[in-house]
Amino acid sequence: EFKENTSIVVFGASGDLSKKKTFPALFGLFREGYLDPSCKIIGFARSKLSDKDLHEKIKPNLKTNNDEKGSEKIEQFLKMVSYISGPYDKDEGFDKLAKELDSYEKEQGVKNPHRLFYLALPPSTFVAVATQIKKKVYAEHGETRVVVEKPFGHDLESFRELQSELSPLFREDELFRIDHYLGKEMVKNLVFMRFGNTFLNAAWNKENIQMIQISFKEPFGTEGRGGYFDEIGIIRDVMQNHMLQVLTLLTMERPVTFDSEAVRDEKVKVLKAFAPIDHNDILIGQYGKSDDGSKPGYLDDDTVNPDSKCVTFAALGFKIQNERWDGVPIVMRAGKALNEGKVEIRIQFKAVPSGVFGEVAHNELVIRVQPDEAIYIKCNSKTPGLSTTSQVSELDLTYARRFKDFWIPEAYEALIKDVLSGDHSNFVRDDELDISWKLFTPLLKYLEGPDAPKPEKYAYGSRGPAELVDFLKSHDYVFEDSGSYQWPVITPE
Ligand code: BG6
Repeated sequence: EFKENTSIVVFGASGDLSKKKTFPALFGLFREGYLDPSCKIIGFARSKLSDKDLHEKIKPNLKTNNDEKGSEKIEQFLKMVSYISGPYDKDEGFDKLAKELDSYEKEQGVKNPHRLFYLALPPSTFVAVATQIKKKVYAEHGETRVVVEKPFGHDLESFRELQSELSPLFREDELFRIDHYLGKEMVKNLVFMRFGNTFLNAAWNKENIQMIQISFKEPFGTEGRGGYFDEIGIIRDVMQNHMLQVLTLLTMERPVTFDSEAVRDEKVKVLKAFAPIDHNDILIGQYGKSDDGSKPGYLDDDTVNPDSKCVTFAALGFKIQNERWDGVPIVMRAGKALNEGKVEIRIQFKAVPSGVFGEVAHNELVIRVQPDEAIYIKCNSKTPGLSTTSQVSELDLTYARRFKDFWIPEAYEALIKDVLSGDHSNFVRDDELDISWKLFTPLLKYLEGPDAPKPEKYAYGSRGPAELVDFLKSHDYVFEDSGSYQWPVITPE
């Protein structure tokens, strides 16, 4: 299943992304037996470091997951990892890299090398590194796979420019564009849930669904990286990519197979049916100090322009113009510095006909992506006993209860495993990006242009701007008076 003798080169090896995500994911795969000890991992970056320096940097983030042999495995893993320093746009380091790869492959008797290049780099260095890879270390008689991370451009124009520089270098099937939300267990489960269950599939349309909400909430602000975030904003940071990916998987038609091109064809098709985002159908916000004054507001960050209109919260209305979804309100909402950290999909179904019952609540299907993965349906059920009233209860698939002995991989672990086996299903194709930038660029231009509206203020640690409730109501979300109903969350041990 997994390839032996693969060489993995991590560019940007001394940076944050590789320290927090790439190396821990490679280790996780090694720990679980999905990365063969015969593989070679080379970190590459500009800073002058020894192999040992790199090991010290990455070690604190390697998790043993209660594996008794954990620390032994860490040592074995670190033996596979070496380091090369060099500039990204000159031959010197790449010559050295080529030599190391050649001698490793020769030693292992590899005829058709499998080389994986992971670009954990800022976008300004993408093209230089890609060019050097092609020139110096491309596997002519084997397999070259190049993993790139967002941002894939800043808007439609810059995305196309980047694309026009990368596409002459690598074929589309050699490129793996990571959107790490596609590696999350619950996101991968969407197609199984939808197309593997007759009752859900049958209800998945405008006749039965009242509205759809996808929410992303983070309990922290931009602490320490305000300067970076100011140019990005929440829409570019998580909505144009992560949340849109979730929304397409949720709304696409059934693919002919689960083959990666078939799935991505369907995603592109539904994206083409999205109406342009209406600039009046949005609610934007920026956080201020927390109510008790203990947490800073966005503008209190010295690295941020004091008049910044940077959006740290947004709720956007979407419409999909096809038979299945015509008229169904879709709201995507995301915010930093909110009251909790949570990502979920909430589908509210239409009311049952009145007459037989008094008031009964609308059904809701909630797919809780994180934390505490779960899928539950809020449904009406007779209050047990002699009572003749109904009450809201739930059909509940909570992972921590149902799947006790499973290893649920981190998103990056799942995705790197896919790269190793050459599976593109959970990576973003060039045409998907083109369409998503087409959809978002006019809105971003408006919000960053001279007539940009001022974002509503909300307190750090709150639920977002006060206007959110009305925004949701105007998108047909019915706030139920279902008494004290609360879904019983179970947290994994
Ligand atoms: C990243 C964004 O892409 O996703 C971050 O740049 C955000 O701002 C992160 O915090 C969220 O990912 P996760 O996996 O923690 O939900």
